[in-house]
Amino acid sequence: MDTRKKTALIAVAGLLAFYLLTKGLNALSSSPGANSYKSYCAKCHGEQGEGLGTLVPPLNNADWLKTNSSNLACVIRYGIKDSIQVNGQWYDEEMLGLSALSEVQIANICNYISSNFTETKHFYTPEEIENSLQGCKDEKGN
Ligand code: HEC
Repeated sequence: MDTRKKTALIAVAGLLAFYLLTKGLNALSSSPGANSYKSYCAKCHGEQGEGLGTLVPPLNNADWLKTNSSNLACVIRYGIKDSIQVNGQWYDEEMLGLSALSEVQIANICNYISSNFTETKHFYTPEEIENSLQGCKDEKGN
């Protein structure tokens, strides 16, 4: 094969790889979890889960989330009233529950947060979400 053909071939392969990569990244960023996170959580917790000063705690690398990962579904549905400490900072504002979200939406958001903002990248199964929601529902006497 002459050099011109080789260069052309490499250029085509490069373009193809670039196309597949951007397509893959787009698919990731427009997953249902990403969309729901952006619509329902990002205005307070930030696009990158960075939080909002001393008003809203971070989700990205949050120690609270590490120790309470099994409560995430309950927090989304029922909110949190008590003051909590996250990464050494106290937060006193209440978070209202997002009671209109379905279990599937909650599962997608939990998995989006887990795979983007935590090291463990725990995968929440729909069954796990259902069990934990059942648990906090009983606790709240609803
Ligand atoms: C209106 C603002 C607001 C929205 C919207 C909101 N939160 Fe919160 N969130 C808060 C505040 C304020 C706290 C702190 C609550 C406290 O101190 O009792 C909090 C606390 C948390 C915590 C526990 C602390 C931490 O950072 O690890 C988690 C987890 C959480 N929110 C997840 C979510 C998720 C997921 C969504 C979207 C489904 C969401 N929040 C939507 C304001 C909000």
